[in-house]
Amino acid sequence: MKYFHKIIIWLTYISPIVFIPLATLTPALRSDYGKKFGTIALILFVITLIPGIIQRFGLAKEFNLIIKLILPVRRQFGILMFVATFTHYLAMKVIPTLQFKLPPSLPVYQAFGLVALIFSFALFITSNNWATRKLKSNWKRLHRLTYIIGWLILGHVLLGGLKSESEVSLQAIVIGVVMVLEVASLIKAKVKVLS
Ligand code: HEM
Repeated sequence: MKYFHKIIIWLTYISPIVFIPLATLTPALRSDYGKKFGTIALILFVITLIPGIIQRFGLAKEFNLIIKLILPVRRQFGILMFVATFTHYLAMKVIPTLQFKLPPSLPVYQAFGLVALIFSFALFITSNNWATRKLKSNWKRLHRLTYIIGWLILGHVLLGGLKSESEVSLQAIVIGVVMVLEVASLIKAKVKVLS
């Protein structure tokens, strides 16, 4: 367990190396690379939500191992998610626009992704002890942006997949199911408090 947490912490330190291939890959390979990082970002995002969902459903005992694996390094998973998202954004949008001098554009599915990226940045820069102390109770409020980010990612991958492949992608199904579980768990927790 300790080793797993150490590995995740080290991965956050070295994570900026994922930007390096962006400078050397051909456009086609860079697009593949960018898409992979979109999926990695989505998976990392889902990982940050899992402990909360399990706890709110009152299943902490049953899924104790998962909670123990993720919870101590949830912040690091959030940081890794932002790094992956930013890599995706550079590869899919910024570099092609600059390289091929494309006119500025922002289709709806990309607008969803961009707002998710901006909100993730707000969480990324406040994912440290200093920000937690300074923001006090506002930190929790700010980090509720997570719920909105999830729906924005769903909008992004759903519309993006429908546009390019005319089908609902596996990524859209995964984030859709997780967001439904997220809302169901929040409702369950609220009902428990009220009763
Ligand atoms: C939290 C933010 C984001 C996440 C989690 C995310 C995730 C994803 C995922 C999972 C895919 C599908 C990859 C695949 O087909 O293998 C995708 C596709 C794509 N994303 Fe994002 N993305 C985000 C933000 C953005 C932003 C900010 C932009 C650009 C403004 C962007 C541009 C694209 C493009 C161009 C595609 C390809 C769509 C297609 O033609 O299939 N994404 N994204």
